[in-house]
Amino acid sequence: MPAIPFVPVTGPRGLPLLGSLPAFGRDPLAFLVRLRDDFGDVVTWSLGPMPMMLLSHPEHIAELLAGDEKLYQPIDVSWVFKQLVGDSVIRSQGADWRRKRSLVQPAVRPRQVRGHAATMVECAVTVAESWQDGQRIDVQREMSLLTQRIVVRSLFGNDLGGRDRQLGDAMAVVGRELSAELRGVGLLTPSWVRTPARRRVLAAVATVDGEIDRLIRARQEAEREADDGEDVLARLLAARDEDGNRLTERQVRDEAVTLWGAGHETTSTALTWCWYLLSASPDVRGRLTAELDRVLAGRMPSYDDYDQLSWTRQVIKEALRLYPPAWVLPPRTARDGVTLGGTPIPAGTTIWCSPWSTQRDPRWFPDPDVFRPERWDMERPESVPEHAWFPFGGGPRTCLGARFALVEMTLVLATLAQRFHLDVDPETVTPKAGLQLQPAAPLHATLHDRTAPTDR
Ligand code: HEM
Repeated sequence: MPAIPFVPVTGPRGLPLLGSLPAFGRDPLAFLVRLRDDFGDVVTWSLGPMPMMLLSHPEHIAELLAGDEKLYQPIDVSWVFKQLVGDSVIRSQGADWRRKRSLVQPAVRPRQVRGHAATMVECAVTVAESWQDGQRIDVQREMSLLTQRIVVRSLFGNDLGGRDRQLGDAMAVVGRELSAELRGVGLLTPSWVRTPARRRVLAAVATVDGEIDRLIRARQEAEREADDGEDVLARLLAARDEDGNRLTERQVRDEAVTLWGAGHETTSTALTWCWYLLSASPDVRGRLTAELDRVLAGRMPSYDDYDQLSWTRQVIKEALRLYPPAWVLPPRTARDGVTLGGTPIPAGTTIWCSPWSTQRDPRWFPDPDVFRPERWDMERPESVPEHAWFPFGGGPRTCLGARFALVEMTLVLATLAQRFHLDVDPETVTPKAGLQLQPAAPLHATLHDRTAPTDR
């Protein structure tokens, strides 16, 4: 039980019927910070008719995340999200969730991640070879195509051929519509209503489904040819339930789409923020290239370099603090009433915690808006409470791919930053809270090849 008293405080009154939906919809990030600053660590508020609670103190967050997952059911407000991931692990509960998680988990265990490291580097090298000195790029798009290629190759044992851009576009449509849904009355629109936005989502999901279907068929073909693939698709296709039944095609599709989506959009967003922050901080970037030159001396990184690349990892950790792709954890609704910190929480209350607001709380991070990877120096660690930094969530439902993501981002950053500086256009970049925390407008950068002759 936390030492900090758990005292729920009533937050903003909100509007009749809508509660705080308009204020939340206008600017969710500012709204969550305001709840924390104006009301305190445990604030009750409402979204339409739904009672909500925001926890901002790391001790309370730790207690919530460590709690028995049976006590909560994942909130199910987003129609768009449901179209995309179906009934996969991320939207499941109880025994069903445990089974799905155990099917997917082996594919991202540390031993497997080590095995995927070479693919991560190979894909990054392909990107580096396609880049040229002076070229202009859309950073998010480049990172998204790269991480998509990595996930599909390492987890599905395949590639997307020339269809990666089409798929990226489809995913962007889903992301945009989800963002709009979260900010407006979309959340209160009955599921049977087909708005133009929802039709766009269905078309985009159909594109995704077509591709996932192709990957599944390719894997089934390989099985028939006795290729004993160990990738996640092979496991899903081979899985049986207690009665010996296989997963349905729909179930395999749902898990595959979830891994594909969760596994590449998050890391590409985090990498995009890393490039932005590095571009704005020449000292940090200088220290990064110095580390890469010292540890790698011009060769490509491998899994074994991960521990040595300590500054690279600190840069990533600090970027995940300032711009956590999951700006809010999937909210959990108290099933029959729960007790947190000794205080009863009524059944039906949906409990939120936000890496965005807690990771920028000056109580845990002095100068919270400043990019300072030194915070994470091993020799002089600042004392940060557990769960003041939680971009991957925590407890039983913690992100399945955290290790995969950290290794991937480190190896990608090391491969690309060794060769290129990305000078991001010096416009003000504002974050926008949608499915992920992404830059509100595309981030453009000019590439500078560090190995190019300087006397041009
Ligand atoms: C920077 C990258 C990533 C971030 C910030 C991130 C963040 C998160 C967060 C916050 C959650 C919810 C945790 C909770 O409810 O407490 C989650 C769940 C999940 N993540 Fe990630 N993730 C990342 C990368 C990945 C990757 C690379 C994969 C797969 C290869 C992945 C697969 C999943 C899955 C399957 C779940 C659902 C787990 C469950 O419900 O049991 N994620 N992630």
